[in-house]
Amino acid sequence: MTPLCRRVGIDLPVIAFSHCRDVVAAVSRGGGLGVLGAASMSPDDLEQDLAWLDRECGRSPYGVDLLFPAKSAGDDPTDLLAQIPAGHQDFVAGLRTRLGIPLRRSEPGRTRLGGMPTEIDHLMTHANAYALWEVVRAHPVRLVASALGPPPAPVRAAATKLDMLVAGLVGDPRHVRHQLAAGVDVIVAQGYEAAGHTGEITSMVLVPQVVAAAGEVPVVAAGGIATGRQVVAALALGAQAVWTGSIWLATAESDLDPVVKDKIVTAAATDTAKTTSYTGKPTRQLTTAWTQAWRQPDAPAPLASPVQQLLARDAVVSSFEHQVTPVMGSAAGQAVGLVDRVRSVASVLDDLRTGMADAVGDLTALADGDASDVGGDAAARAGD
Ligand SMILES: Cc1cc2nc3c(=O)[nH]c(=O)nc-3n(C[C@H](O)[C@H](O)[C@H](O)COP(=O)(O)O)c2cc1C
Repeated sequence: MTPLCRRVGIDLPVIAFSHCRDVVAAVSRGGGLGVLGAASMSPDDLEQDLAWLDRECGRSPYGVDLLFPAKSAGDDPTDLLAQIPAGHQDFVAGLRTRLGIPLRRSEPGRTRLGGMPTEIDHLMTHANAYALWEVVRAHPVRLVASALGPPPAPVRAAATKLDMLVAGLVGDPRHVRHQLAAGVDVIVAQGYEAAGHTGEITSMVLVPQVVAAAGEVPVVAAGGIATGRQVVAALALGAQAVWTGSIWLATAESDLDPVVKDKIVTAAATDTAKTTSYTGKPTRQLTTAWTQAWRQPDAPAPLASPVQQLLARDAVVSSFEHQVTPVMGSAAGQAVGLVDRVRSVASVLDDLRTGMADAVGDLTALADGDASDVGGDAAARAGD
């Protein structure tokens, strides 16, 4: 196993990002590292989920992902609301009429829907990230990840005292030095194919560049990885584990809406695209009526983060509450093209292990000079 796996305490070099605690627990219990995506949660919800994970994971390690945005239009919801121009409000009002998105239900319900916080004070802001960090630090979290910028110094310092590993995500080798300066323990190299906030460089090119720039700091490969063969490829590129998101969306344990799970299993890689229409930052999402509307010539330019999130939130949440299916989507990567049915987390983990063993077997045969059956099972599947 890789040195990073030993340090984290996992026997499978697979890290799984999910907003769903059931997925996180199932991956961690299955030998990988589940990481709970907490960016848009309320501190109370996060406390409940982490208390649950502490019980469910037992001695298996788990992680938490927070967003400490390097750039943000502000923290105060009232100030942020005031930054929405009337023309943008009118465009969204017109879209709601055209797409048939009713007003939101007013009764309290889930605090997160369609990837959006239902409450205004749980936006992707620094203030919320720090409130969430206060919750995280009170739990035995093995790894905390900081997306959208290096971890702030107080977080790094506190994590060291708590024996918590700190990971930073990069989409460009030029950002590695900022992560090294911030003292991260792990760098996640996240390629263009990935779900969520992503850069312009594909994983195949990005990972070796980040490995070279990271020196002694271990690198984890993210973006487009959904099979055991790809895990082996990532290790061959110098990564010490993989960081995955899209493959867990359509697992049986995932709490994603069934309408969206169905879209994930039928989607091709080309049914995802980068858009700024949800948060104001470029994120890869399933293509929906919402993302397409923001590409039309009559659409205004999306606003800065998190003002765009504030503008989009009510319509997106309402589309889930009222099941306006053409609008319902999710952050999703090109790896959805490799997901063709709803399966349990255990079954996905089994396939990853089998695929890794097959790939290692093929490579060993290749090294031994017997390449006659190399890629045989993969080629047979492609011909199914
Ligand atoms: C629904 C969804 C939401 C995501 N949101 C975040 C996030 O809040 N923070 C983050 O660091 N990464 C986020 N990601 C990206 C994942 O952490 C991971 O880097 C990515 O999914 C890996 O690429 P893959 O989707 O091809 O497996 C998200 C991914 C998905 C699928």
